[in-house]
Amino acid sequence: MPDSQILLRGEVGKFELQIPPIFPRERGIILGDRSNDPTMFPELSRQYGSLRRFDPARSEEALLQDIAEDSLPYVVADNVLQHCPRLSVALTNWIRAVKPGGLIAIAVPEQVSRSGRWALSLQEPSVPEHHANLLELAQTVCHMATVERISRRETPSTLGIGTAQRTAGTMLDLVLRKRSRTLTPVQSNHSPEAQTLAKVAASAIAARGLARDLSEFHAILDSGVRQATVVDLGRLYLMYQWVQRSLLLTGDCIEVGSYRGGTAKLVSELLLRRGIEADIHVFDTFAGMPDDLAPDEIGLKGTFTETSLAQVQALLGNNPRAKLHPGLFPQSIPPELGAAQFRFAHIDVDTEKSVRDCLEFIYPRMNGNGVIIIDDYGHPECPGATRAVEAFFADKPQHIVQMPLVSSAVVLMGC
Ligand SMILES: C[S@@+](CC[C@H](N)C(=O)[O-])C[C@H]1O[C@@H](n2cnc3c(N)ncnc32)[C@H](O)[C@@H]1O
Repeated sequence: MPDSQILLRGEVGKFELQIPPIFPRERGIILGDRSNDPTMFPELSRQYGSLRRFDPARSEEALLQDIAEDSLPYVVADNVLQHCPRLSVALTNWIRAVKPGGLIAIAVPEQVSRSGRWALSLQEPSVPEHHANLLELAQTVCHMATVERISRRETPSTLGIGTAQRTAGTMLDLVLRKRSRTLTPVQSNHSPEAQTLAKVAASAIAARGLARDLSEFHAILDSGVRQATVVDLGRLYLMYQWVQRSLLLTGDCIEVGSYRGGTAKLVSELLLRRGIEADIHVFDTFAGMPDDLAPDEIGLKGTFTETSLAQVQALLGNNPRAKLHPGLFPQSIPPELGAAQFRFAHIDVDTEKSVRDCLEFIYPRMNGNGVIIIDDYGHPECPGATRAVEAFFADKPQHIVQMPLVSSAVVLMGC
């Protein structure tokens, strides 16, 4: 690799100490954000070869898009991730650039990111407006890389290399190792990282729900929901509660975006257990995302293919009122549904066009006191879903209730 491909942007003191044991002494890429100190260059050059300065104002350079796929032994990004406009885009590109088995080491300040775009934490769930949870973020790429380490570390009051100094604070470290073979979304949903996140969410729910009897919720999860959903536990628990709010109303239920059927199963089981006379209409291509994607949704292309109509039919087979509608929505809407009324709607389709199409069909058919949940509203990685919701409700009387901790929105028709 030519020397000019080794980038340096600053504060690499910690990694200078850590690289020798964990990184091969081949030339990888080091990204850092803060130093203009020429004295560290000779020092680092001795270990890593020639270094090229990196312009902090040009965050797109951090994406390493000019670096060939599978070409580097490692990428170190020290205090860089929080400057990137889209976190998973940066992470995905760094993983792309390293060889299978290669390492990606990331350090970010915890929570406060004065100059960065993002505040990152380990314990707080992601909320919109540029707050992200490192564990959740790791989960979004765990189909491409295993998580070798996520840890928190106090930095000393100053850390100097040459004249470069860093002030005290808590840093978060994330070390990923590129998988030799990318996992499918279903496999990654069962990966250790995804399981860890589920445990974190489960203990948070248990801690907050001490006064509640969660046995019905858990029984419903065990009826086949868990194995058939990519929706996290916190979101499932909210959904369980919102469906209950609609049980006294009239009308059917509808879900667009069912994938392997997990969330549809949750609704279906609750209706059965409570003896509610209502259809549940379940829409999906059952063959993956549509091709009609906005430029910033291109990462969704080809995803959610590991499902089938037969599989979801089998999951919901115990409910004779579960009606499956395979194909691209809205073309897949049967004519008789034109006269339907819905008490509860779950829109989980991720993309701008699909969310817009769903709202256009569902909203005018809602019971006047019904509930619509729109998944992914406010999710930093699904900007199209947010755009579609905001545009649709701009001239409507309803207030969009944002659920920032789980990146979704709830619309109560009567409010
Ligand atoms: C995030 S997944 C749904 C997750 C699911 N609710 C669960 O419990 O895991 C999104 C799904 O929306 C589907 N989808 C998106 N746009 C669609 C459209 N216009 N018509 C039909 N299905 C669509 C995709 O095929 C994909 O299966």
